[in-house]
Amino acid sequence: MPKQSLGEIELNRIYQRDCIEGMRMIPDGSINVVLTSPPYNIGKEYEKKQLLEVYVYWMTQVIDECVRIINDNGSIVFQVGNYVNDGAVYPLDCILYPEFVKRGLIPRNRIVWTFGHGLHCTKRFSGRYETALWLTKTDDYTFNLDAVRIPQKYPNKRHYKGVKKGELSGNPLGKNPSDVWEILNVKHNHPEKTNHPCQFPLDFANRIILSLSNEDDVVLYPFMGSGTTAVGALMHKRKFIGFETERGYVEIANKRLDSLELPQS
Ligand SMILES: C[S@@+](CC[C@H](N)C(=O)[O-])C[C@H]1O[C@@H](n2cnc3c(N)ncnc32)[C@H](O)[C@@H]1O
Repeated sequence: MPKQSLGEIELNRIYQRDCIEGMRMIPDGSINVVLTSPPYNIGKEYEKKQLLEVYVYWMTQVIDECVRIINDNGSIVFQVGNYVNDGAVYPLDCILYPEFVKRGLIPRNRIVWTFGHGLHCTKRFSGRYETALWLTKTDDYTFNLDAVRIPQKYPNKRHYKGVKKGELSGNPLGKNPSDVWEILNVKHNHPEKTNHPCQFPLDFANRIILSLSNEDDVVLYPFMGSGTTAVGALMHKRKFIGFETERGYVEIANKRLDSLELPQS
């Protein structure tokens, strides 16, 4: 089958390159979902800690490209944590939120992702959540709620009076998962763990992919890391594009993709 592409960028491929350079090669309005978790400027092995102002300027350049390339039904999901400097904590989503709104995007949810593990702080409460800003370009956006419903707490609960007496009171397909997501983070004993230091869980990527895109849509992940989103996209018959600067991580991601058993079409 011939390779599919958007402009000069091939689909279902991870490019070892800077994401801004890469995104500049993608035509306007051609991507359905941009999902990303950029570096948080906290000095991880793949980043150099910079002044917050310099970091935010870099992120605004990333955001400019994300806004340009999503289509009118499209979404951006920007997942970040806190920047911490000298014990002072700066929530990056709060700092970046006005940058999205300034560019005309419409905020839909601020998703709080909570997880059970992390550093044990002694001078403040231990951090146990990160956030994801979900924004759309227009009011006509893809949102497949039924694809991501979760089991009802009381699935057999019924109306006890009125015309619906005796009927199930909850949606039999399950309930809306809400904007607080409790999903284990990928630490040492997690079955998805690779050598990437900041991998996020497949369950997180899958919920975004299934709810905000349809089959054959294109999901772009500018800071691809260990390839979680690429794996989720292929598992659910979406296409992906990824950019990642570190060769070792591209190799990890490609290895995950190679060992993936794809659904039959
Ligand atoms: C927070 S991690 C993303 C991890 C990802 N969520 C996963 O599940 O593996 C950010 C990644 O961005 C990469 N990165 C840093 N600067 C980049 C750039 N300018 N362009 C593309 N990737 C970059 C880093 O090497 C790192 O792997």
